[in-house]
Amino acid sequence: MKILFAASEAAPFMKSGGLGDVLEALPTELAKDASLEIAVVLPLYKKIKQNETLGLKFKTSFALPSPLSESYVGVFVKKIKRVTYYFIDNEFYFGRDGAPYGHGDDGARFAFFSKAILESFQHLDYYPDVIHLNDWQTATVPVYLKAFYETIPAYSRIRTVFTIHNIEYQGAMPESFARDAMGLSGWQDDVMHHDFGVNFMKSAVVLADRVTTVSRTYAHEIKYPYFSHGLDGVLREHEYKLSGIVNGINTTLFNPKTDKALPANFSSTDLSGKAICKAELQKELGLPVREDVPLIAMITRLVSHKGLELVECVLNDILSRDVQLVVLGTGDERFERLFHFAQYCHPDKMSAQIRFDGALASRIYAGSDLFLMPSKSEPCGLSQLIAMRYGTIPIVRETGGLYDTVPALNTETLEGKGFTFKVFNAHDMLGAIDRACAFFRDGQKLARHRRALVRYNSSWKASAEEYLAIYKSLCDS
Ligand code: GLC
Repeated sequence: MKILFAASEAAPFMKSGGLGDVLEALPTELAKDASLEIAVVLPLYKKIKQNETLGLKFKTSFALPSPLSESYVGVFVKKIKRVTYYFIDNEFYFGRDGAPYGHGDDGARFAFFSKAILESFQHLDYYPDVIHLNDWQTATVPVYLKAFYETIPAYSRIRTVFTIHNIEYQGAMPESFARDAMGLSGWQDDVMHHDFGVNFMKSAVVLADRVTTVSRTYAHEIKYPYFSHGLDGVLREHEYKLSGIVNGINTTLFNPKTDKALPANFSSTDLSGKAICKAELQKELGLPVREDVPLIAMITRLVSHKGLELVECVLNDILSRDVQLVVLGTGDERFERLFHFAQYCHPDKMSAQIRFDGALASRIYAGSDLFLMPSKSEPCGLSQLIAMRYGTIPIVRETGGLYDTVPALNTETLEGKGFTFKVFNAHDMLGAIDRACAFFRDGQKLARHRRALVRYNSSWKASAEEYLAIYKSLCDS
């Protein structure tokens, strides 16, 4: 069976968030099965094109028909272990500096990418059995497939799976987009419409053979207006093909036993290295080196849906306790200032690391005691899984993937994983932080629970099997 993943990012080539991690780990996990042929297709961003060390090979080129004008498409290829990576080249759309998204013409860029993927099959003489699409950037593949390709015999057997990693970004365009920029008419034009414009994600929910999202609870939540950003009606209508499959992490990459970024390594049988990591981290951050104080960490984009408002409400209360807090990440200026100011007021308790730094992130996961993730909504979340892998206890709000991966800890029996709160309320969060800090002070139980967290297996294996079952069921039908 041939599976093609289509996405706007995949580590190690391009990563702006969790999507990039998933698109690295899931194809790699599936490729372990010798009966599967796994490929990933990405835009050839400038950063990738200019990186000669990657050794991409030119494969083919063609002119893509479009209602506006014909456009050049180049296809480059690179194989890593058993995964083939294809790159769609077009200087105008992807030869740009800066972030992969956030350009004024993102709609045109990713509609172009989606159509170019389909067109490339005839030039590569490669036809996947299943195209696994991810988020709004590749959400127009099903409509293009049905509108322009399905009558070609080699395309007629192709099935599509669409995964929602975050429903907040849907690819909403002006009303005329489907007709003028995509060349759709009649029912195809209708399927793109939602509210008063065009919506890429909606069309994929309607047309894909299966729709998945990245946790069971999120699959349930997005059927309600509080979480759906306007798509709850469409999702309820198509819930017969909707399911949730939780993400895993790359347990080889995120491994406290071998992680080279750490000053000392550790494992579930010997946690002594974690104390060294903590002391070194405190030194690095300019915080007092104290073993007896709970070090709380947040590694996050500093944006509202990550629950930063809750932290803003009670930051002074948190810092009035005997704790240390480190925040790593960038985002809204409002929150960046908040943490800078807190560091200014409490230099012995607060460390504001307003930047992105992967190696420091590893040292924080390993050197902290508690990991705070009070998200308003969280499709899956990977940081809580990484934190646990490094023996750091999560404090989370019970939503989406956080609810599924961090069951509440019973501090008597040590069943469960972390400290949780239900209502999106700052004082409920503060209560959970206080309970976690009290638990931290119970040395024996703390060590036992940390060992259990490090041992916990959040690898991709089980989830990859669930995806495989979906692919198989589609190919058999
Ligand atoms: C998005 C979600 C995050 C999820 C990731 C990968 O970034 O916000 O919760 O873990 O996608 O699926």
